[in-house]
Amino acid sequence: MNKLMVAGGRPLKGTVTISGAKNSALALIPAAILAESKVILDNLPELSDVEIYTELLTELGATVERNGDQMIISPEGLRSVPLPNGNVKKLRASYYLMGALLGKFGEAVVGLPGGCNFEPRPIDQHIKGFEALGAQIVNEGGAIHIRAKRLIGARIYLDVVSVGATINIMLAAALAKGITTIENAAKEPEIIDVATLLNSMGARVKGVGTETIRIEGVESLNGCRHSIIPDRIQAATYMIAAAATRGDVIVDNVIPKHLEAVSAKLTEMGVDVMEMDEAVRVIGKPEYQAVDVKALIYPGFATDIQSPMASLLTQAKGTSILTDYVYSSRFKYIPELSRMGASIKLEGRSAVIEGGHPLTAAKVTATDLRAGAALVVAGLTVTTGEITEVDGLEFIDRGYDRLVENLSLLGAEVWRKE
Ligand code: EPZ
Repeated sequence: MNKLMVAGGRPLKGTVTISGAKNSALALIPAAILAESKVILDNLPELSDVEIYTELLTELGATVERNGDQMIISPEGLRSVPLPNGNVKKLRASYYLMGALLGKFGEAVVGLPGGCNFEPRPIDQHIKGFEALGAQIVNEGGAIHIRAKRLIGARIYLDVVSVGATINIMLAAALAKGITTIENAAKEPEIIDVATLLNSMGARVKGVGTETIRIEGVESLNGCRHSIIPDRIQAATYMIAAAATRGDVIVDNVIPKHLEAVSAKLTEMGVDVMEMDEAVRVIGKPEYQAVDVKALIYPGFATDIQSPMASLLTQAKGTSILTDYVYSSRFKYIPELSRMGASIKLEGRSAVIEGGHPLTAAKVTATDLRAGAALVVAGLTVTTGEITEVDGLEFIDRGYDRLVENLSLLGAEVWRKE
C-alpha cells in the first residue's frame, strides 16, 4: 500500500483550482455510449476510477482518446460485450453500464459493482427501474444479466432517494419508447450534469433537480461536447482543510450554490467563508464553536463530506453530533481518528465528537476515499511536528486528483511514500 506522509501545523494559504466532478464523470462516460457519434468531455478529473472507465469502454469496442482533461469517446465500434468480471469489480459506478448498455442495445451483462465498501450498497432500486421499463433481470455468477426486446416508458417510484438509481434509469429510458417518469428522484448536481449531456445529445429529459424527472424517449442520440461541473466534494474538502489549519484559501472553479450547506455549517462554527462568482474564500479562526451536522440527500450536507468534517469538529470547543442519514455506518474512520487522540463516541448513526483536544500524529489507515480525506485533514492539524502516515493512498487517488500537488501548493508538507 502507498502511504501519504503528512507533517501538520502549517496553515494552508493560496488558491486551489478544483477539477471536474468525479461523481459526474463516472456517469457521463458511460452515458456517452448512448450516442451514435463522437462525444467530447472536457474538464475531466485525473482519477484512477476514470482510468478504469476508459479501459471498460475500450473493452466494449469504443475508441477513447485522452488529451489532458479532455476525453473523446467514439462509440461507433461499440457492442454490448458481457463484462461479468475484471474492471467492473473495481468501482461501484460501473453499474451505470447496465443502464447505458440496456438503453442502447437492449441487453447487458455487468458484474456486480465493487468500490468503497463502507457498508452494503444495494442496487435494488436500479433493478426495479429496469424491470419497470420491461427488462428481464437475472442475477447469476456475480453478474447482472439484463435483456429487453423493447424498453417501454413507465412510471417509477423510487423507494429510496438514490443518485445511482436515478441516473441509471435516465440512461435506460432515454431511448425507450414513450414517457418515463421517475418519482422521488435524487436532486444532486451530478444528476443535472448527466441530464444536460443527454439533452445535448438530443434526449428529452425534464425536471432534473426536482423529485420528479420526465424522460420522453427518442429514436437515437448524437454526439456532442460537454464540460463537466466542478467537484463540490473535493471543493468542500479543501474548504474544511483551510479551516482546520487556520489558513486562508481561495477554492477556485466552483459553483458556490453547490457548496451552500458546507459554507453555512463552517460559518456557524465561526469560520470566515466568502462566496464569489466561481470561487469561495475560507479564512480560519483561532476558535470554533461545536455544531451539529446532519448528512442528508442534496441539498443537505453531503454524506461524502461528513468524514473530513468530523476531523474539523475535533478542533471545535464543545461537543458536536454528526449524524449520517444516508449511510448508517459510514464511520470506519472514527477508530483511526481516535488513534490520533480524537475523543469520539459512536451512537447508532451518530458520532458524538468532543472537541478541544489537539490531535497527535499516528500511523492510520484509510478505509475508503472520504475516510482517507478525513485522515489527511486530521494530520494537517497536528502541531507537534510529528508526521502522520496515512495508509491506503489508492483510495484517496480514486477521488482526489492531484491532492499532494494541490496541498503542497497551499503550503502543506505532504509527500507520498511507496
Ligand atoms: C453516489 O453513490 C455517490 N457515488 C456516493 O459517493 C455518494 O455517497 C452517494 O451517491 C450519496 O450521495 C457516485 O456517484 C459514484 P445512492 P450511490 O444510490 O449512487 C441506498 C464517494 O465517496 N440505496 O444515492 O451508490 C444506499 O444504500 C461516493 O464519492 C438502496 O437502498 O448512492 C444508500 O443508503 C461514496 N438501493 C442510499 O440509498 C439502491 O438501489 C443512497 O445511495 C440504491 C441505493
